[in-house]
Amino acid sequence: MNIPLKSLESPAGDVFTPGLEGVLVAETVLSHVDGAAGRLVLRGHELGQLADWSFEAVLALLWRDLGPESLDETQIRERLGTARMAAFERMTAALPALEGLSQVEALRLLLSRLPDAEPQCHHLVAVASVPVFAAAIARCGRGLAPVQPEPGLGHAADFLRMLHGVEQGPERVRALETYLVTVADHGLNASTFATRVIASTQAGLFSSVIGGLCALKGPLHGGAPGPVLDMLDAIGREENIVPWLTDALNRGERLMGFGHRIYRVRDPRADALKRAVAALRETGGRIAFAEKVEVEALALLAERKPLRSLQTNVEFYTALLLEAVGFPRDSFTNVFAAGRMAGWTAHVLEQDKVGRLIRPQSRYIGPAPA
Ligand code: ACO
Repeated sequence: MNIPLKSLESPAGDVFTPGLEGVLVAETVLSHVDGAAGRLVLRGHELGQLADWSFEAVLALLWRDLGPESLDETQIRERLGTARMAAFERMTAALPALEGLSQVEALRLLLSRLPDAEPQCHHLVAVASVPVFAAAIARCGRGLAPVQPEPGLGHAADFLRMLHGVEQGPERVRALETYLVTVADHGLNASTFATRVIASTQAGLFSSVIGGLCALKGPLHGGAPGPVLDMLDAIGREENIVPWLTDALNRGERLMGFGHRIYRVRDPRADALKRAVAALRETGGRIAFAEKVEVEALALLAERKPLRSLQTNVEFYTALLLEAVGFPRDSFTNVFAAGRMAGWTAHVLEQDKVGRLIRPQSRYIGPAPA
């Protein structure tokens, strides 16, 4: 029998928004991105008000009233320390399996060994595990043995210590802490949406955040900062800036670290990170060069896309900051995941409370059956 094509149409009607721009799919108490004003609010706090907060304090803020128990900053710091130790013990046997994988693929593999069924505070375990795994993966990439966590340290300080093998000075720790806080949550970005979709199926927290990591790794999302440094290196000298950027745009390439789906003005996170990186003594020459590239890139983008306000995004100064505190560039997405794990876990806890399966519609545009 021939079914008329019309009867195959989606009952949701005609509105189709590629990329889901402007489509509301969740309510959240966690964060708000105001793209027109360039503001980011985390649970009632402007990003600028969180500048000197610890990562643990931001976790306490995001998890408040959502987790199985309410923990303050000090309790979270203690629990994360213990959980980092457990993550280290769990990880050691798996390291040979990471051979041949990129750093983010290796992180994905190690996270996938966390059992969804085990009864524990999965949000704490997920946050605690990422720096342990990411530092070990970065060290393995350089032929170095992993360094055991020091549970008495703060999360950011221990992350740097596990990366370098020795404790780092307060300036570097503060810079990383600022980074982790700045990227902790950011509305319904692609990775957080992916995380919430998986959480809505009740697949479990670890499965949900692994989905988030998979979405994060793409160059249009969290995979951009490594390529920002590649771009700065490829440009190399001041007299190359304009010709290099012009050639890249003529080839139809996107300039990494610029543009954003929501922001039509400067990403407030770019300025937060620029301040943090400028406070580090060792970045003087690099940051001055990057600023020149930024100015020229913005001028060219304004000329090429006068109708679309393309501004510096979070990834531009992320690249400089993570380089300055000693992370290898192929580990940048994993460090992003260490910060964004705060938001992903909070969104999973929030989605669990909503309890509604996320299942949108598509419109069928294929052939009708013969
Ligand atoms: N360089 C050059 N052109 C750009 C850039 C860029 N960085 N960003 C957007 N454009 C162009 C697009 O090619 C498009 O041109 P067209 O109209 O001629 O096709 C126009 O500007 C509009 O862009 P959109 O596609 O509407 O932008 P969208 O909202 O889909 O993309 C995105 C946002 C993915 C961030 C984009 O700006 C981009 O690719 N930037 C570079 C990668 C990057 O920095 N990613 C990190 C983002 S921050 C984060 O996720 C943490």
